[in-house]
Amino acid sequence: MSTTPKQFGQTVGDSKANAADNEYVLGTGADELARLGLQHRLWADAAHAAWKIGRIGPGARVLDVGCGPGYAAFDLASLVGPQGEVVGVDESSRFVGWMNHQAAVRGLGQVRAVVGDVHGLGALLPGRAATFDAAYARWVLCFVSRPAEVLRGVADLLKPGGRLIVHDYFNYTAMTMAPRCRSHDRAVAATAASWRERGGDPDIVGRLGRLLAECGMSIDHLHVHQRVARGHPDLSKRDPMFAWPDTWWRTYAPKLVEMGKLSRADCDELIADLERIGSSTTDFVMVPPVFEVVAVKA
Ligand SMILES: C[S@@+](CC[C@H](N)C(=O)[O-])C[C@H]1O[C@@H](n2cnc3c(N)ncnc32)[C@H](O)[C@@H]1O
Repeated sequence: MSTTPKQFGQTVGDSKANAADNEYVLGTGADELARLGLQHRLWADAAHAAWKIGRIGPGARVLDVGCGPGYAAFDLASLVGPQGEVVGVDESSRFVGWMNHQAAVRGLGQVRAVVGDVHGLGALLPGRAATFDAAYARWVLCFVSRPAEVLRGVADLLKPGGRLIVHDYFNYTAMTMAPRCRSHDRAVAATAASWRERGGDPDIVGRLGRLLAECGMSIDHLHVHQRVARGHPDLSKRDPMFAWPDTWWRTYAPKLVEMGKLSRADCDELIADLERIGSSTTDFVMVPPVFEVVAVKA
């Protein structure tokens, strides 16, 4: 995938963050753009299954909350078809620029993205109250500081009977190498601390039922995906899921070092342990549990 097209007067895939761009804790550079693409491929099966439970089909109008570069949105576009609509909102002008450019290149008139903070959805989408059949929020509620406000905005935009589908974290720090490994435990704790410091919550799904009830929504479906990732010395035999923790740590551990949350030596030890597990036939990584919620607006 090319990651450096010039568009809308900016380089979308620059590896360095643009100071003018609103940035979430993981960054919006070329490394994160590529990582999100890989992450979507690994989790697309879960997304499609949840969208089916959320009754997203032809003609549906869908809001993608914190859409990133739109990897899920383009799959949603194929489900809703040309009679439907997919509207993404993300605070990153890089990701939104990328998504709108891709929509134009692919001739998908039913897809558009808007730059903005998901804490203010009503103001970002004026005149759209009670017009969406469904909303999807994957790995965004764990990064926002006021999830109640985000959920209130989503509830207002949904039609009565409309559904919010969420994939997000609870018990994030359950992620572990097996056997347990000091460098990994340290990095997982540092990650959770870095999100909390920026107002996020790696346990957000634990609070979701109560927050949804406060805005007139109830959980219809609750499920957890717990996956494991095994390595192998022969790359062709390696579990594809191994690429998830592998790219995660290679992207985020250096950021933790920059933030002062991990020492350079800790980071090097983690990468060495990752390489050891990647070519092991005995050990594995238990990736973070991903919770799936489908909630209905009364
Ligand atoms: C881990 S990415 C997930 C992207 C996409 N939902 C997916 O699953 O591929 C989190 C996204 O949330 C966006 N984000 C975080 N906080 C936000 C906020 N307050 N308002 C709008 N977008 C936000 C980030 O810019 C980023 O694109």
